[in-house]
Amino acid sequence: MHQLQASRGAAVRPSRRTCVSPIAVAAVNPASTAKPATSNGTPAVRDAEYSKKVIADEQKYVLQTYARAPVVISHGKGAKMWDVEGKEYIDMAAGIAVNALGHTDAAWYEALVEQAAKLAHTSNLYHTQPQVELAKRLVENSFADKAFFCNTGTEANEAAIKFARKWARVRAGVDPYDGDAVAPYELVSFTSCFHGRTMGALALTYKEQYKTPFFPMMPGHRLAEYNDLESAAACIEKGKTAAVFVEPVQGEGGVTPSTQAFLAGLRKLCDEAGALLVFDEVQCGLGRTGKLWGHQLYGVEPDIMTLAKPLAGGLPIGTVLVKQHVADVMKPGDHGSTFAGNPLVCHVACSVFDIINTPAFLQAVEDKGNRLRAALKRTMSSNPHVKEVRGVGLLVGVQLDIMAGPVTDAARDLGVMAITAGKGDVIRLVPPLVVTDEEIDQCAEILGKAINQVAPK
Ligand SMILES: Cc1ncc(COP(=O)(O)O)c(C=O)c1O
Repeated sequence: MHQLQASRGAAVRPSRRTCVSPIAVAAVNPASTAKPATSNGTPAVRDAEYSKKVIADEQKYVLQTYARAPVVISHGKGAKMWDVEGKEYIDMAAGIAVNALGHTDAAWYEALVEQAAKLAHTSNLYHTQPQVELAKRLVENSFADKAFFCNTGTEANEAAIKFARKWARVRAGVDPYDGDAVAPYELVSFTSCFHGRTMGALALTYKEQYKTPFFPMMPGHRLAEYNDLESAAACIEKGKTAAVFVEPVQGEGGVTPSTQAFLAGLRKLCDEAGALLVFDEVQCGLGRTGKLWGHQLYGVEPDIMTLAKPLAGGLPIGTVLVKQHVADVMKPGDHGSTFAGNPLVCHVACSVFDIINTPAFLQAVEDKGNRLRAALKRTMSSNPHVKEVRGVGLLVGVQLDIMAGPVTDAARDLGVMAITAGKGDVIRLVPPLVVTDEEIDQCAEILGKAINQVAPK
């Protein structure tokens, strides 16, 4: 028997919402380079010098495109994380809305090990069952007829751009392979949106400082005001617009939900102009809002939806879901990716999907979101710099009239990991969807303390 299979039974026989201990991980993986664990199952605690050395080496060897917090994370369990010095944190960032089931979820881990023991990757030269299983789940539980797999959120939007451009050419009745053919190609996106950092998705993304150093951008982009139908109507034009990209709930842009009238109006404008409506649910999709899909809050369906972050619970994956009329224009060779839809990631994603896609799980997300917002209002709103607590489900923002970075730094020192959004003036909380009520209450207490420390009343 394969060594992994032989040791798996002994390592974990999990019930669904339990977590795997690091000791179990080491037992399953004899090649693990992890340091010996302590008797309670956690990795050995290191001193501050060790953290300093890792951070110094990171600066020496890793290209400096991230402004990382000065902590070295060692391990996690549920919505808790520990750094290498043994300090505990409530993880309200979840790897930027990724670790939907928290850290080391037992069912997630079991699916990972089960598939790793069989087959991790073949490329898309062959059929593999886990990819089909995942596509079936996504299609049967959404507006879509077909799924395309990739590896990240930006890649999902990149693919959606290509699908929309080709769809518009076919729909215009031109030969899509004729380089001289003229067809609608413009793409509309909105102020404060974030769609990714590769060249196509970047062109749609709002923040100028992400784009300017890499000019020129992809041509054919138009920007309209978010939640403003008049502005959208001025940009969406028959014969010019191929697709409109919108996040049903903006995440990076400041945790701002669309209005129902806005999304319904976009649907109408797109239909009138013969353009596709694309919902970017990379951050708000798959349970985060308390609905399986964010757009279900609004009763408006897109032609294309992009997904990524939480789908494989921490492994890289991106997905584009499309209606049949979009699928019909794409042919073999039009798009692809070596790693996309590999059996390892897809098998794990099936297990994540099955856990999230139950009425009880989704209801719990909604309840926890309500609890978190109520708790934050209780602990923070007496500080005059707190202007609003908003969001849906467990996509929560606290609008400040000061920069949020110093507050999230202070919260980290006090044991809560939170991130920022908007113009840097929003505290963004996107915890694992399995965060407990106790962790929510603790987080709110700590954020209340943090804001009062940074900006005393
Ligand atoms: C709405 C949205 N779209 C796209 C992306 C890009 O995803 P990735 O970082 O996986 O490329 C993000 C990332 O934060 C996002 O929030």
